[in-house]
Amino acid sequence: MDLASLTAQLQALRAEALPRIAAAPDLAAIDELDLHYLGRKGGALSVLMRGIGALPVEDRPRVGVVVNEVRQAVEGALGAAREGAGAAALAARLAAETVDVTAPAREIPRGALHPILETIDRIAAIFGQFGFVSYEGPEVETDATNFRMLNIPPDHPARDLWDTLYVDVPGGLLRTHTSPGQIRVMQAERPPIRALLPGRCFRYEATDASHASEFYQVEGLMVDEGTNLADLKGQLVEFAHAMFGEGTATRFRPGYYPFTEPSVAFDIGCLVCGGSGCAACGRTGWMTILGAGMVHPVVLRHGGIDPERYQGFAFGMGVDRIAMLRHGVTDLRVFLDGDLRFLEQFR
Ligand code: PHE
Repeated sequence: MDLASLTAQLQALRAEALPRIAAAPDLAAIDELDLHYLGRKGGALSVLMRGIGALPVEDRPRVGVVVNEVRQAVEGALGAAREGAGAAALAARLAAETVDVTAPAREIPRGALHPILETIDRIAAIFGQFGFVSYEGPEVETDATNFRMLNIPPDHPARDLWDTLYVDVPGGLLRTHTSPGQIRVMQAERPPIRALLPGRCFRYEATDASHASEFYQVEGLMVDEGTNLADLKGQLVEFAHAMFGEGTATRFRPGYYPFTEPSVAFDIGCLVCGGSGCAACGRTGWMTILGAGMVHPVVLRHGGIDPERYQGFAFGMGVDRIAMLRHGVTDLRVFLDGDLRFLEQFR
């Protein structure tokens, strides 16, 4: 190997490389050529440079100059090619990702509150104005909280009204009413208490248009010094007027619940017939919307509250019944079906 032939080979390498690099179609091809010509180990330039060692010492710097020229030329070509390929790739991406701002918007399906939930919200908003705060109790309660602490011992006949589904934990059952929430709130809070407890309840029930084994209640509880039946009546009448209209007729009847004493049933004038009597109200002109009463001293004590000092009232209303009245629904099973043809009417 002599100076002339090595120089010639270097020039030939440049002559071959530059057009190939200029013609490379994309960045991957350019990288490949980079490796092929300038790669440290097997690159064409490195291979030629191995020949330098065989030259006479005085020739070596001269060939070094040529090597540098060739390397710079190839590097320059690679750099220019990369810039071009990058610009082309960017232009392609911009073209591909163009957003057509004039295209019609894709429709986002709009949901709505279920009529039961919407009714609960309305009830909570009205009682919220009276200072009642919403709490949530568990759907799986125990025999103690659902019955015994509410003054319903194991052999009490009232249990027949509240048969339910039992779960696989000791004493566990699906709550038959929201009243166990009274115990939970009293145990967690000190008077004055104004609590609202909406939620789902369960009963062992033969299903028909007005009975389901799953339904919703809203429990109310107020405990303070000197709370009395007049407070309860005033609050419920105000509620009925806010919920069903100022002119709505109301009445209280004596009732019975083991956990309230005295107990009442609260009726409103039938919203369907206006009080003259129809099928919806069983020809009585009245509709019962809740049970209520003064919290029994035994229940206050189970809640850790001294009945000598504090008194309370409680009520439990059926949400499904109220939602039916609000929306003219005649079969409560539609609330549970999840049928979109029904639900979409409430958007
Ligand atoms: N828990 C009763 C029921 O489910 C309703 C009620 C609640 C009555 C609170 C009085 C006080 O029928």
